Amino acid sequence: MATIIDGTSRTFSEYLILPGRTTASHLPQNVDLRSPVTRFRTGESPTLQLNIPLVSAAMQSVSGSDLAIALARQGGLSFIFCSQSIANQKAMIEKVKSHKAGFVISDSNLKPTDTLSDFLSMQKKTGHSTMAVTVDGSSNGKFVGIITDRDFWESETNLSDRVADYMTPLARVIYGKMGISLKEANTILRQKKKQCLPIIDDQEHLQYLVFTKDYVDHKNNPHELLDMRKRLVVGAAINTHDYKERVPALLEAGADVLCFDSSDGYSDYQRDAALWIRQTYGNSVVLGGGNIVSADGFRFLAQDAQLDFIKVGIGGGSICITREQKGIGRGQASALLDVVAERNKYFQETGIYIPICSDGGLTNDTQIFIALAMGADFVMMGRYFAMTYESPTPRINIRDKQYKPYWGEGSNKARNWKRYHEEGAQTTVQFEEGVDAYVPIVGSVKEVVPLTLAKLRATLCNVGTLSLPEFAQKSRLTLVSEQSFIEGGTSNVTTIDQLGLTRADAS
Ligand code: IMP
Repeated sequence: MATIIDGTSRTFSEYLILPGRTTASHLPQNVDLRSPVTRFRTGESPTLQLNIPLVSAAMQSVSGSDLAIALARQGGLSFIFCSQSIANQKAMIEKVKSHKAGFVISDSNLKPTDTLSDFLSMQKKTGHSTMAVTVDGSSNGKFVGIITDRDFWESETNLSDRVADYMTPLARVIYGKMGISLKEANTILRQKKKQCLPIIDDQEHLQYLVFTKDYVDHKNNPHELLDMRKRLVVGAAINTHDYKERVPALLEAGADVLCFDSSDGYSDYQRDAALWIRQTYGNSVVLGGGNIVSADGFRFLAQDAQLDFIKVGIGGGSICITREQKGIGRGQASALLDVVAERNKYFQETGIYIPICSDGGLTNDTQIFIALAMGADFVMMGRYFAMTYESPTPRINIRDKQYKPYWGEGSNKARNWKRYHEEGAQTTVQFEEGVDAYVPIVGSVKEVVPLTLAKLRATLCNVGTLSLPEFAQKSRLTLVSEQSFIEGGTSNVTTIDQLGLTRADAS
């Protein structure tokens, strides 16, 4: 007979965090949001830590190189999706690893023979007002000059004139030589009162542009997640089919963390693949996996598969229909609480701490905080990041609002490369486990992430804590009734939004 486990399957929205005693030292600026990614022994430090507890999901519509760069600059980590060819995934990793903060590969370039009207159309397309001029118009071509929208007056000039006649030629351009540091480049920009510094190599080929505004931006990102060589840290998803070819390629490209992307990680397939990686590369590779929703699943992946971190969550994702289709899953809060309890037990028994990632189903910022209060070391999100400018999908206008497509890895759209083929099963009947949807655009990573983190820091202070381990240890949570949930929203007032007014109308 089947076993019915005790308790109800619960979700994050059913809980609230009780405040603890806040003292004068509990200030947001004193909060440390670092979180471990690798397993570690008591008394030792993890070899890899995040600077903020947010990672982006290994999904085609979420984690490409641009998002990975933007998120690592905030202190988090992206997992570049593996539902693509090994060569493509490798190229995405290489793009992140070769990103040099402040050194931008010029993507608006002109040839000397192009016209001013070509300049204007490119300006319209890219929004850039400064363009490099190279012999062949490529980003690494021989550099001949630079042109800006201040070099001619659109209304007073013949727009079929050539760029060569208006640009500042190389002989008069202030430029930097390849190998220059960001600090040196910025000193030149400041001393010469310039906005843009081209960096060229010995053959006078253009390599990068350094902009004053990027320096300021760099200064504003003190939490950047960097490797020993000061390159941005990036993760890569892997599967249990082609890991013998994919893993070596990803490591060669510089991936810092690997993670199995599977809707059900409690399987011999994942253990065998993990052990192959351990046998081949030892413990130097940071390896995560999942997903699981129970204590026994945790033990299996921690002990038998030797993983560094373990992901929790089946069926809670915003685009996920796994529970509907297969009846498999568990309320995310119950799953997390069960696994965290087992992780803590394992830590007491062995002295080995295994970080837990709560994956999927977080529908607002407070649910992130509840997951962390319940003991998740970090959270993985898809929808949250799909809504940013940096996700790899195009912007779409629907009834005057801007959206981005967002689809599940188990949807037909992602089918060609998906992880949801039941491993080993010889079935030809396919069914979807994810939907194909749209999400509204909310802004760029550098806008949305700091806002979430400001709230998180405030929550930690309310609980009377200054670090995530302390927060998880001291948090007291309460189940909320449906009525107290309603009480938590606005009541008996009509909001400006409900009236359809803007703040300006209302003031
Ligand atoms: P979200 O943050 O709620 O959008 O959930 C993202 C998570 O959903 C991912 O990290 C995956 O674990 C999971 N996921 C991605 N694609 C699918 C799918 O097609 N079906 C079920 N779960 C999915």
